[in-house]
Order: sequence, then structure tokens, then C-alpha cells
Amino acid sequence: MAIGLEFLFSSVVKHYYRRLNTYQRLSLTLLWSFWSAKMNFFLETLQLVYLSVYFILEACFRFFVRARRKNVTGEVVLITGAGSGIGRLLALEFAGLGVSLVLWDINQEGNKETARLAREKGAARVHAYLCDCSDKAEVYRVADQVKQDVGDVSILINNAGIVTGRKFLDAPDSLIEKTIEVNTMSHFWAFLPPMIANNHGHLISIASSAGLIGVKGLADYCASKFAAIGFAESVALELLSTGKDGVKTTIVCPYFVNTGMFDGCRTKWPSVLPILDPDYVAKRIVDAVLTNQAYLLLPRSLYFLMGLKNILPAKANVLLGVYFGACNFMDAFKGRAKKDQ
Ligand SMILES: NC(=O)c1ccc[n+]([C@@H]2O[C@H](COP(=O)([O-])OP(=O)(O)OC[C@H]3O[C@@H](n4cnc5c(N)ncnc54)[C@H](O)[C@@H]3O)[C@@H](O)[C@H]2O)c1
Repeated sequence: MAIGLEFLFSSVVKHYYRRLNTYQRLSLTLLWSFWSAKMNFFLETLQLVYLSVYFILEACFRFFVRARRKNVTGEVVLITGAGSGIGRLLALEFAGLGVSLVLWDINQEGNKETARLAREKGAARVHAYLCDCSDKAEVYRVADQVKQDVGDVSILINNAGIVTGRKFLDAPDSLIEKTIEVNTMSHFWAFLPPMIANNHGHLISIASSAGLIGVKGLADYCASKFAAIGFAESVALELLSTGKDGVKTTIVCPYFVNTGMFDGCRTKWPSVLPILDPDYVAKRIVDAVLTNQAYLLLPRSLYFLMGLKNILPAKANVLLGVYFGACNFMDAFKGRAKKDQ
């Protein structure tokens, strides 16, 4: 019946269409494409509004009711820069979750110590490797070794990082290049293809609030962290558009953390932007990974400040930056003492 009606309808349309002259046909075609473009615009806008409202409500709900934590038992978790600071604390957080831990660092002593502490915390399988993440060939070589020894890495935490702590024109080219190689380019190599092939995995980028806003005295560091965020966001979109929704991404942007890396730096209004406790940061990162949170900004005030940054005019932004001390954060920078590294 439906097919009969459709046939009748198309025959009538064809009949009248044939009776039109060229000019009328052209007008009709233009009118049709204009109308369908309008309809597409209308439908897509409607979909955008509807889904945006849904996702905003979902985010509000998640603010009060945390998402269920995923089970990571049996996963292979690789942490770069595991020899100290946040990397070490992340290893200790994951130690009790039944994962195989793979620890990379250029600081072999620090890395061994992390491995020892992780075992003490209950990790059954811990593998520590000496690897300079700024050396692409070494990354591929040690990644192959990890594949043979432990298997495919399914959770990769790109955490290794360095800071020169000098004004841009005072920093030697070699240190600037190193900063980009460690903080950004090391994220590019080796581990994504098996995750995509298995449609399973998680990429975590330990970036920084300095990857969201420029800071006087941190030009190369900011550039490296902005780039790390741009890379992670773009890869996340590529994964989504190829249907690989089993590979998750988390971008972490903490303000100063009290690990030694930014020793000497001051915060102007600690009640709004406190120097963060490393244990708290590590716990929040692991929580974000286990709940597949896409972005983690710490402290929470950063979400509001970044919103302001995106809507305020440029001069008001500079004023806001000065108000929060972005021009003086680095004045008393000492950084990590050599013996701690
Ligand atoms: N400390 C902060 O205030 C702060 C704030 C925001 C973001 N971060 C980021 O968090 C991450 C961890 O920082 P942290 O505070 O724990 O610093 P950290 O100095 O304690 O740890 C960094 C680790 O990376 C290792 N590393 C450095 N270069 C390496 C290389 N080429 N190959 C392998 N390992 C290398 C170091 O040996 C060290 O163990 C970094 O990416 C840093 O940029 C830190």
C-alpha cells in the first residue's frame, strides 16, 4: 500500500516537473536546495541546543554524584617521569589497583625508589626502565622492550616534564628545545596504534594551567604545555571521529604543585589559587582517569578563571592576570635543587 502511494506521488511529481520550462526547473532546484539547506541548519541547530542542554545537566548531576570508577585490574599503566613528584605519587596510587606498573625516568635512582615504594604499597608487577623521553629513538626502543616484557601499554600517563624558569631571551636555545622535546614531543610516539587496534586504552596528558594562559617568565614552558593540550584535544577528536570510543583521554591542568619543580614561586591570593598538595593532585588525577574525565583543572577556581579569560576583552584579561600575579609568579623561582633531581 505504502509503496503504491509512493509510486503514485513520484509519478505525479515527475509529470508536473516535465511540463516546466528550463527557467522554472532551475528556480525550483534553487528553491529546493535553499529550503533543504535551511532545514539542515534548523535541524542541526536544534540538535546542538538539545544535546548541549543534556550535557550541561549531566555535568551538573556529575558535580554532586560521581561517575562509577572503572576497574583497571590487569591494565598496563606506563608513567613517564615516575622518579619523583607527581609521577611517583601516581605510581603509588595505582599500586593498589591490580595493574602492571611501568615506570620511566632519566633519574634511575629515583625511579628504583618509586618501584620499591610501589611494591611496598602492594603492586605485584612493577617494571622500572631508564628512558630519556626527549629522545624519540630511545622512546621507540624502550617501548619495544616494554611490549616484550609486559605487553601492550593500555594506560599511558605522559607526566615527565621540565622547566627552564628563565625569561625567554635569557634561556639558551638548547634548553628551550629540550623543554619542547620533553613536555610536548615525547607525547607523540609509540603507544597509540595498539590502543586504536584494540579500541581500548587511556591517554593522560599532565599539562598545566600554564598551558591555558600565558605567564611572564615561562614562555617556553607555556608553549610546550599549550602544545601538549592542543595535541591531546586533537587526538581525542580523531579517535571520536574514527569511532574508537574505547580509547579515552584526560587532560590535566594543575596550578603550582608543591613538588619542588617550582620551588620559590609565590602565589598572590592563596585562598583562590593555592599552591597544591602533591598527594591531593595525584588522588584527583587517578580519580579523573578512573571516571574517564576529559579535563581536570586544579584548583576548581581555574574553571571559572578560564571562562573569564575566554570572554573578557584583552585589556581586562591583562588586568586580571596582573591581579592574580601572573607577572610575578616566577620572580623568586629557584626550581628543584640539583641534589633532589
Ligand atoms: N610542580 C608543579 O607546580 C606543576 C604544575 C603543573 C604541571 N606540572 C607538570 O606535572 C608533571 C610532573 O611534575 P612534577 O612537579 O612532579 O616535577 P618533578 O620534577 O618532581 O618530576 C618530573 C620527573 O620527570 C623526569 N624527567 C625529566 N626529564 C625527563 C626525560 N627527558 N625523560 C624521562 N623523565 C624525565 C624527572 O627526572 C622527574 O622525575 C610535569 O609535566 C610538570 O610540568 C607540575
